[in-house]
Amino acid sequence: MTFSKSKTLPHQPVLYHESLKYLQPRSEGKYIDGTLGAGGHAEGILTASSPEGMLLGLDVDNQALNIAKKRLSIFGNRCIVRQASFAKMIDQIKSLEWGCVDGLLLDLGLSSMQLDTTERGFSFLKEAPLDLRFNQNEGMTAADLINMFSEKEIANTIWNYSEDPRSRQIAKLIVENRPISTTTELAGLILRAYLGKRGKTHPATRTFQALRIAVNNELEVLEKGLENSLKALCVGGRIAIITFHSLEDRIVKQFFRRESKNCICPPEQPFCTCGHQASLKVITKKAVKPSNEEIANNPRSRSAKMRVAEKI
Ligand SMILES: C[S@@+](CC[C@H](N)C(=O)[O-])C[C@H]1O[C@@H](n2cnc3c(N)ncnc32)[C@H](O)[C@@H]1O
Repeated sequence: MTFSKSKTLPHQPVLYHESLKYLQPRSEGKYIDGTLGAGGHAEGILTASSPEGMLLGLDVDNQALNIAKKRLSIFGNRCIVRQASFAKMIDQIKSLEWGCVDGLLLDLGLSSMQLDTTERGFSFLKEAPLDLRFNQNEGMTAADLINMFSEKEIANTIWNYSEDPRSRQIAKLIVENRPISTTTELAGLILRAYLGKRGKTHPATRTFQALRIAVNNELEVLEKGLENSLKALCVGGRIAIITFHSLEDRIVKQFFRRESKNCICPPEQPFCTCGHQASLKVITKKAVKPSNEEIANNPRSRSAKMRVAEKI
């Protein structure tokens, strides 16, 4: 497979061809890209659903929205861009009087623009304020969290969202050395907790992931987004979710599994009392992963997994 997306784009869309293959955009369709980013996937959906397909693009990050708006302006009023969380997509669809949508994409995690913009604090390799919020106008920063939480709460946050085996030592060092305000200060402490030993990846990778998940409330937001996706989809409409770590993938997998069953009573129960009805058919029995060619072209895609389901 060849890649039409060049390395000069602000963010290279991951599993681009695969997501379009599964979403099957068509001209009469209405679509949501719940994580617009630089608009790469959205551009693909709008192109594939020409001449009339409509797309609602959501992102919580102002910087991403500005880039995507410019890029997608060629599609005129076929593309609507809003600053909103995908967890609140139902309000957005209602305000557009769309009824339901034919396809929905969530490409979770961080964009290359966010990672590469030093001031956002997503990279611990460059000195910056310890922020890590997708929406810089809302909620507590990672610095607020590590300066205000107790040692136990910090250790639990790191452990729950990254399973870092040194979570306790890291939390102890944080509390002993606070206030901490920059990325490199924190990365230095984490390296100390690891006694200066580096593996293949920098030891700060896991803690930064954990703090990002915590400040953006990512797992709860994903659960809400999934529930709302189900309400938003028309029968026959498809949902594609691209995840980048096992905690997210597990949530998506379990949600698809539950919603594709007619009964979700405990297996030991002799007869069904839950009355649950299947509302999804899982299309990808196994998660779709990037090809070796894509990983070579875009190493940031290496941990991506896509799962797709269809509303029944
Ligand atoms: C991996 S990027 C998406 C890239 C995009 N698919 C593209 O082709 O350019 C993920 C985006 O999701 C956004 N995001 C994270 N949480 C969000 C949420 N709850 N609601 C909407 N957007 C969110 C981030 O700000 C980021 O811009």
